[in-house]
Amino acid sequence: MARILSCIQPTGDVTLGNYLGAIRFWVDDQTPDSFHGVVDLHALTVQRDPAELRMKSLQTAQILLAAGLDPQIATVFLQSHVPQHAQLSWLMECTTSFGELSRMTQFKDKSDGLGDSFVSASLFTYPSLMASDILLYDTNKVPVGDDQRQHLELARDIAQRFNSRYGKTFVVPDGVIPKVGARIMDLQDPTSKMSKSSGSEQGTILVLDDPKLLEKKIKRAVTDLDSEVRFDPASKPGVSNLLTILAVCTGASDPAELADNYTQYGPLKADTAAALIEFLRPLQERFAELAGNPDVVRSALRIGADRAESIAATTLSRAYDAIGLVPR
Ligand code: AQP
Repeated sequence: MARILSCIQPTGDVTLGNYLGAIRFWVDDQTPDSFHGVVDLHALTVQRDPAELRMKSLQTAQILLAAGLDPQIATVFLQSHVPQHAQLSWLMECTTSFGELSRMTQFKDKSDGLGDSFVSASLFTYPSLMASDILLYDTNKVPVGDDQRQHLELARDIAQRFNSRYGKTFVVPDGVIPKVGARIMDLQDPTSKMSKSSGSEQGTILVLDDPKLLEKKIKRAVTDLDSEVRFDPASKPGVSNLLTILAVCTGASDPAELADNYTQYGPLKADTAAALIEFLRPLQERFAELAGNPDVVRSALRIGADRAESIAATTLSRAYDAIGLVPR
């Protein structure tokens, strides 16, 4: 059975991009070899209100369970509950070059976005922690959205470099990026990806948005001046984004084919909103149920941390040994 690991940062409210690009696959493909972390340490790369971080971390875990991750099957955990993530991260930083980290486009985008404000060193070294997250679990497959492609490539390079320096220690993971929905775009700026922490409120669909708000956001989505419905992400990014959302929500495999059903934007938007509302309904209902029983989430995270740590500890000691650290 392939070991799967993929994580989510509690950096804001979970978006439709997170769900369509990643979480839905975690749910569909879950096995006892699936590991899904809420990576709270990653969220610390920018200063956060502590109470808000605690709340978002638990809420994100609640969304993963509401989406259908079953703690009896898959392992759902908080990254900070498994100390080996931070410990292995140092070894990863020692195996990553400054040049490699400098080429990460997310660092450039995020540090540019901060302007003259404080840019932490961790925002720069974050991909080394991400490599640690992945390599700790002897991961074979990492299902992620398209924005994580570069980080994943780096994790593979680090694993290969470590293995060639110190002997085979880590499994070299493969990324799994979906054919449809790998990059859901902001509805108001369809040339930028939909994001938890940047982008406009109107352009970002949250998985917990109520039906009225979902309808309003889709209705106001930016399209373009001509009214031809065609799947062409380069020249019609807004329309193509709606077709992609409609395709995933209705289980259609090809957004380009769906375009043939429409001659105007109005009906496309109406159908997309209706399909999206239905698609998110089960998650929203389960989320509300779990809200009445917070112990379910806490207990899943406790069990998850124990399971995750039992594997992470073995890998960490293998890596410590390989690199020449003296056992206690
Ligand atoms: N717009 C998107 N379309 C498809 N997939 C997406 N993902 C994120 N945005 C989109 C995928 O969701 C998973 C979890 O994301 P993350 O928490 O690692 O955060 P991120 O990739 O840095 O993007 P976000 O959600 O916009 O967060 P912020 O704003 O904090 O950077 C990943 O598999 C990601 O590919």
